[in-house]
Amino acid sequence: MNGDALTLEALRRYAEDRRPAFEAELRTLVEIPSVSSDPGRKGDMRRCAEAAADLFRRYGGRAEVLETEGNPLVLGSFDSDPGHPVLTVYNHMDVQPANEPEWTTEPFRMGIEGDTYRGRGTTDDKGPALSAFFGALAARDAGVPLNVRFLWELEEEIGSPSFKGGLERHRDLLGTDAIVVSDTVWITRGRPSTPAGLRGLQGFRLTLETARHDLHSGVVGGAARNPLAELMTAVNDMVDGPTGHIKIPHFHREVVKPTRKELKEWAQSGFDVATFRQDHDLLSMRTVEPLKVMKRIWARPTMEVHGVVGGYTGPGIKSAVPPRAEVKMSCRLVPDMDGATTLARIRKFLARRHPDVVVHEEHGLAPFKGHVTGPYAQAVKEAYAFAFGVPCCFTREGGSIGAVRTMEEVLGCQVFFLGLSLPSHGYHAPNENYDWEQASGGMVAFAHYFEQVSGLEAKP
Ligand code: BES
Ligand code: MN
Ligand code: MN
Repeated sequence: MNGDALTLEALRRYAEDRRPAFEAELRTLVEIPSVSSDPGRKGDMRRCAEAAADLFRRYGGRAEVLETEGNPLVLGSFDSDPGHPVLTVYNHMDVQPANEPEWTTEPFRMGIEGDTYRGRGTTDDKGPALSAFFGALAARDAGVPLNVRFLWELEEEIGSPSFKGGLERHRDLLGTDAIVVSDTVWITRGRPSTPAGLRGLQGFRLTLETARHDLHSGVVGGAARNPLAELMTAVNDMVDGPTGHIKIPHFHREVVKPTRKELKEWAQSGFDVATFRQDHDLLSMRTVEPLKVMKRIWARPTMEVHGVVGGYTGPGIKSAVPPRAEVKMSCRLVPDMDGATTLARIRKFLARRHPDVVVHEEHGLAPFKGHVTGPYAQAVKEAYAFAFGVPCCFTREGGSIGAVRTMEEVLGCQVFFLGLSLPSHGYHAPNENYDWEQASGGMVAFAHYFEQVSGLEAKP
């Protein structure tokens, strides 16, 4: 191993030298609209997998496109020697749709404005994936005695429906000592954090049909039922809008409170409500007390209304009684909640109060409790400190990554997180972006991480 090539200075130079290559590769990936929720994009999903495999091969690695029941997985490898430890980096190559009206540039064209890269997927999750990729090249070129593998999923944004089957089918190829995921956000710029847990998710829809077609509200109104109003009442019975308080009996029964140690760490994390508000463009909030905000986004479940379908939405009003309506909802789950139990409680509650409302189950992801001790977790801390010059803290993550629990279960190894995205990068938002500071620091952090774990004994 050439230690000189792994000093901070040398790695920074390595990253700087690769900037044109990084930008070209990011452009290639961002300009493939790999929107997994859009059935019309099947061809693009395949094209994205092929482009990813091609990337590993062009830089001297091996790559395979692994078939699943749904979109394929891409496995890229930079192997050194079968006797060396194996570390797998997980990222996802699929992205959210990008039809928000606030986009100021074409979402599937990569815009470069100084150090900022703009476009759907730049930060979630193609940019972080490429930071890890170039970090692996630096480690390989320095002769770090590690086999680095990359597992790139193409169905993360739809709840990873084929991931478990895919891992089981290709288990022989996927053996690894540990996994590191780069798909999470920091507290804010200059404040790295790594999650000690992720929230889960249980999606569902409510529908109600009370007539066959629009009716004149002067003719039938008063006697006819209004499905939109009834669904609004049903929602209001379940959750209080202004506070977010969930009113379903026993809903919170399994919720584990954050420990005193966790709360202390959060208090020192640098989390600041004004910054949070600014990073996310929030106009107002349910609370502005920092610890309450952190508990709400990391340690408490939610019940959210995502969309309402039904009735007249054109200009002015149409005085009709709508025949049917739908509400799209989900709950974020925290340890030790369970999606099926949560949904059963919702069903029971609605069956009693609103017996005609039909509850349709959507995808569910279990919450995840992470690992904060041991050499792999310690190496994450050291990688951030080395590359960014500031210590990171263990917080939790409010979002969900379905693959994480599945990888631990099927591959029998632990998952750690080395995220590089910032709140201001706008996950799922219009004008999503990534930047060179995070990208280049990320390459250095990953190279250092690879160097450290190459010295560890097998599975933690
Ligand atoms: N990268 C996110 C998960 C995430 C979000 C981590 C926020 C940290 C903070 C991931 O791509 C994502 O968006 N997951 C979805 C999954 C869902 C669509 C099944 C989520 O959390 O909504
Ligand atoms: Mn993501
Ligand atoms: Mn996402």
